[in-house]
Amino acid sequence: MKDVLIDFFAIEDDRGALVALEQFKNIPFEIKRVYYIYGNKKNLARGFHAHRDLQQILICVSGSCNVILDNGKEKHKYILNKPNQGLLVNKVIWREMLEFSDDCIILVLASNYYDENDYIRDYDKFMETANRV
Ligand code: TYD
Repeated sequence: MKDVLIDFFAIEDDRGALVALEQFKNIPFEIKRVYYIYGNKKNLARGFHAHRDLQQILICVSGSCNVILDNGKEKHKYILNKPNQGLLVNKVIWREMLEFSDDCIILVLASNYYDENDYIRDYDKFMETANRV
């Protein structure tokens, strides 16, 4: 799978750290939507879908979680536990998010507005689509 972990530059000083996210600079797409997930139950996984035409960057701004990305040929598990690191999830990638720490907050930047029709929630349908890409 192509490099999908992006290290963001953190401006650090005695007070702490600051990361700036800028469209087309350190974020490779137009940011049309931002959402975040929190209060995740450790044993309850999320995701289990792909998108037909959406790019996203997942940033674990607090705590930690694991994300499995699957492009239909390869599967990789990523540990997200750095607020200055983003996981790029391209279109037609099946994702599963699991093993959330209690303090886990995932910030997501997305290249388009929410559209339920863009979701592929069935794994067999995902495989069909992935084989056509
Ligand atoms: P979903 O994407 O299925 O969550 P996850 O992949 O994290 O398991 O979204 C959960 C619910 O929230 C679903 O009913 C769709 C809704 N939703 C929105 O209304 N707007 C959004 O931007 C997102 C991401 C989800």
